[in-house]
Amino acid sequence: MARKICFVNYKGGVGKTSLIVNTAACLAQKGFRVLLFDFDTQSNASIWLMRLDRWNKLNIKGEGSVYSIFNPGTAKLKDCLIKDVVKSKTGDPLLPGLDLVPTTFNLVDLESDYEGDPKTPPYLLFHQQLAEFESDYDYIVFDCPPNILRASQCGVFTSNEILVPANPDALSLIGFTLLVEKLMLFHRRSASFRVSGMGTPAQIKGIIFNSIKANVDIEVPKMRMQLRLNQFRTQKRVSPKAKIYQAQIRDATVVRRAVTLGLPVNMVVKGSDDSVVSDYNKLAGEIVRHEDTTTF
Ligand SMILES: Nc1ncnc2c1ncn2[C@@H]1O[C@H](COP(=O)(O)OP(=O)(O)O)[C@@H](O)[C@H]1O
Ligand SMILES: [Mg+2]
Repeated sequence: MARKICFVNYKGGVGKTSLIVNTAACLAQKGFRVLLFDFDTQSNASIWLMRLDRWNKLNIKGEGSVYSIFNPGTAKLKDCLIKDVVKSKTGDPLLPGLDLVPTTFNLVDLESDYEGDPKTPPYLLFHQQLAEFESDYDYIVFDCPPNILRASQCGVFTSNEILVPANPDALSLIGFTLLVEKLMLFHRRSASFRVSGMGTPAQIKGIIFNSIKANVDIEVPKMRMQLRLNQFRTQKRVSPKAKIYQAQIRDATVVRRAVTLGLPVNMVVKGSDDSVVSDYNKLAGEIVRHEDTTTF
């Protein structure tokens, strides 16, 4: 059964997209079958992995991205899959096992213009369509915008786990706190749509610190985050196993450069023991080990 994991925080710019793209690439390199969903209208993960020219064509066409399934009758989710998305300039697969369902700018219309059956909210439709092929994967990961509006709800509803990317600062802590509130609200509102076999609603399993600058002590912001996490654990608002991940991602110029190259970082830098690639690999390993079925 695929592990379905949402990467979300109510704070933008913390590194959600960079974390998900690079961690998914490490998981694929370890031999797992990985599917990445881009649920952010900005389409950063899609542009990164498809490269601008390929993505531009899709965006102009307005079909074949995740939004297509919400336009009744135009597409099935399975038809939007891009297999082995990371390709060389000549089209050869560079990272077999990493697939993408891309997004395009029209996903923003989902927030205002969903005309489907009110008895089938977008997240239920998405969940039903994903169920048709999710067993093809070991990991399905969802890159979300910094909110739990309709697009993110698709990932949150179907997921079992939530990971919260954060920077060591006060705004990330505020974003995390707001996320917990909005998540509880969404779980309550969507409870009647859950069907048997779905398991418990997605729980927050961890905080991942990203963009850590060399020689900067992050103990204080880390301690503040830990205290908030403990408080939420006591209140049973996050998983009893929720933790701050040991693996943290250093600030490295190559992460920004990789976007321009249209490659995940592990395809740009061949992993040395002391590089940002090793950080992403450690994180991928920790995610793999942090599997537990503990419920509220
Ligand atoms: N570890 C890192 N080192 C350096 N820059 C990073 C790192 N992680 C993210 N960035 C940069 O920070 C910015 C925001 O990251 P992004 O992944 O787009 O965040 P989000 O998806 O949360 O908005 C981008 O310019 C990205 O290249
Ligand atoms: Mg993003």
